[in-house]
Amino acid sequence: MKLVKSLLTASALSGLLMTASIAADADLIAKGDKIFNSKTKGNCFACHDVNGKKIDGPGSFGPKLVGLSYWDDKLLYDTIYDIYTARGLKISAMPAFGKTGWLDDAEIKAVVAYLKTIN
Ligand code: HEC
Repeated sequence: MKLVKSLLTASALSGLLMTASIAADADLIAKGDKIFNSKTKGNCFACHDVNGKKIDGPGSFGPKLVGLSYWDDKLLYDTIYDIYTARGLKISAMPAFGKTGWLDDAEIKAVVAYLKTIN
């Protein structure tokens, strides 16, 4: 029983670590880029312009994304998962992508990897 418990704790901890340090590999970044710039998935490019990148959308509804490479992975994840909770907002134009199920865990992690390339 004790062994089972410590195994469970170990896997819960490694889950947390995974979220904290999402590997920034090229495939993941490319996947995040696709989601960011897709009308059917993130649609982020409809609302956000991106510093240093050419995006093919209006990008004019939300703030221009700048310096996200300095943000903590978890803060970025939480912002996309549910900006209301992450920011304590009552209203926002930005949908809570994770909470509503528009983006799943793996998709949000890919978007985070992409956002980490924004200076
Ligand atoms: C319908 C418009 C809209 C869409 C779509 C949208 N956002 Fe936003 N986003 C906003 C607005 C507006 C804010 C500012 C928070 C607020 O005032 O509501 C924001 C804030 C943010 C922030 C914080 C920026 C900062 O500098 O504080 C990040 C990061 C972000 N959005 C990423 C994304 C990503 C990634 C996607 C796609 C998965 C996305 N947004 C889709 C409107 C949008």
